[in-house]
Amino acid sequence: MTSATSLLFFAIHFACIRAGNSFETFVKLECKTEYHGVYGQQSIVECIVKPVVEDLTIITVTWKRVGAAGKAAANLLEYHKDKMDPIPGFKFAVPSWNKKNMNVSLLLTNTKMADNGEYECEVETNVGTAKATPSLSVTAKYKTPTMSSIPDINIQENTDVTIFCNSTGGHQKGLIWWFDEFGTNCTESAELVAKETDDGLFSLASNFTVLKATSSYTNYTCKVLNVNGALEGKASFEIQFVSRNLETILWVNTGAQFTMNCSTTLKDQDGMYLYVGLDRDREVLYYHQRDSKMTSRKGYWDRVKTDGPVDQLTITISKLTIEDTGVYWCVYTKFNEARFDNDINQGRGSTQVVVNDNALQLPCPTATAVTLTPFHPADENPFLSGWVNIIIITSILTILLCAVIFLIWVAPQVKRCCNQGGYTPQVFPDSIYVDMARNHTSPPETQLVESYPYSVSTK
Ligand SMILES: *[C@@H]1O[C@H](CO)[C@@H](O)[C@H](O)[C@H]1NC(C)=O
Ligand SMILES: *[C@@H]1O[C@H](CO)[C@@H](O)[C@H](O)[C@H]1NC(C)=O
Ligand SMILES: *[C@@H]1O[C@H](CO)[C@@H](O)[C@H](O)[C@H]1NC(C)=O
Ligand SMILES: *[C@@H]1O[C@H](CO)[C@@H](O)[C@H](O)[C@H]1NC(C)=O
Ligand SMILES: *[C@@H]1O[C@H](CO)[C@@H](O)[C@H](O)[C@H]1NC(C)=O
Ligand SMILES: *[C@@H]1O[C@H](CO)[C@@H](O)[C@H](O)[C@H]1NC(C)=O
Repeated sequence: MTSATSLLFFAIHFACIRAGNSFETFVKLECKTEYHGVYGQQSIVECIVKPVVEDLTIITVTWKRVGAAGKAAANLLEYHKDKMDPIPGFKFAVPSWNKKNMNVSLLLTNTKMADNGEYECEVETNVGTAKATPSLSVTAKYKTPTMSSIPDINIQENTDVTIFCNSTGGHQKGLIWWFDEFGTNCTESAELVAKETDDGLFSLASNFTVLKATSSYTNYTCKVLNVNGALEGKASFEIQFVSRNLETILWVNTGAQFTMNCSTTLKDQDGMYLYVGLDRDREVLYYHQRDSKMTSRKGYWDRVKTDGPVDQLTITISKLTIEDTGVYWCVYTKFNEARFDNDINQGRGSTQVVVNDNALQLPCPTATAVTLTPFHPADENPFLSGWVNIIIITSILTILLCAVIFLIWVAPQVKRCCNQGGYTPQVFPDSIYVDMARNHTSPPETQLVESYPYSVSTK
């Protein structure tokens, strides 16, 4: 625009709005009505001066919050005749802003919930003043939740474990949902407490108790949702069971014996427990370090022997019966005076023992192997022999029997469910083999499937 046209403009405007505030239309301030900010981050309230005439110079810019606490609402940012007066946390969005820059946007360096609301921007120039009132809407998101559990580590089978899921920073009261590793919704059994914190935000704390936790189900997920049901964060947690890495598997016959070694690198342990677990953990013996005394539990009185020092103890169990099948593992304890409780440390040497019943050769692999032995390459013409036919029929029947056993015991895997007031996953199986061995020793009515409408995949 040339000076002439701008002069013309000036004249026309002057003529039209003589009655009103003379200069106001020669400068316009453009802002949106609403801006969005996120708690804890930078926000911009953008306002641009639109000159109608050339050579516009800004004399004063003031940013304030509308309706801020009645009394002469303190300016957030003031520029007047080359003098800048900001309060901490507010500045011009344009770095090193100067009076020739039409972008007078306000930057909030660290947005708080209290910054939510209406703002007023007033600009005074050499050709007039302009004013706008944009607003800032501040939201806050829940942070990724943190999870923990009580007890925290070295958890034994069948212990009740409470898992916590906490999140802070939400804008309004949110929700926490719980899921197990199969995606089953366990929220009904959890308890949630939402609190408003000093900064006007919310914190959520939820706890969920797994009754009789077993190492077959270790992974739980919590999801944090905002008041509108949108997911804002999630985390997964694994219950830390005592590690029972099997080091040995022993196959022994009924009446025979087995030997295992329990050891630890830790010094000065008070004692050692030997446990056996199949569907339930049982204590076999306790070895007291100070007087080198071994105390065996009922059922083991006359058939356990120990040898060596506690940190390298050799244990022999004799006169084995099918009921002795299971995983044997040792735990060392030491009294912790500060906690007034025992520190529990997993020992090395865990052993899986499978006791075969000589009378009833059930496990499929063994039975099949035994019956198939006569098929030797040396048998020139097996079909001529009736003896061989009997063996074939026996083998087929054995395989069929195994298939039926497999279908009856392994197939009916009903879905578990978390019921009100607690959550009880099914106990154990570490392997299909263990599962079958258990069924073999107990009548079918003791199957755990009915008590939990929810099943277990053998892992
Ligand atoms: C004004 O300045 C801010 C900060 O530099 C920038 O983000 C914004 O895009 C600018 N607006 C215009 C219209 O140039
Ligand atoms: C979660 O909150 C509960 C109760 O406020 C607290 O006991 C627990 O330690 C917290 N857990 C984590 C992981 O912050
Ligand atoms: C989980 O369960 C809670 C409480 O029963 C329910 O409000 C929520 O909708 C469920 N969520 C899903 C994804 O099924
Ligand atoms: C779980 O949360 C509820 C509700 O806040 C509380 O009463 C209970 O003590 C908590 N349980 C544990 C183990 O912290
Ligand atoms: C637990 O389960 C979740 C969801 O299924 C998965 O993303 C996560 O990796 C699992 N965590 C562990 C430690 O296995
Ligand atoms: C147990 O330890 C002794 C001595 O260190 C060793 O001779 C023996 O073979 C070990 N037995 C087993 C079952 O590991």
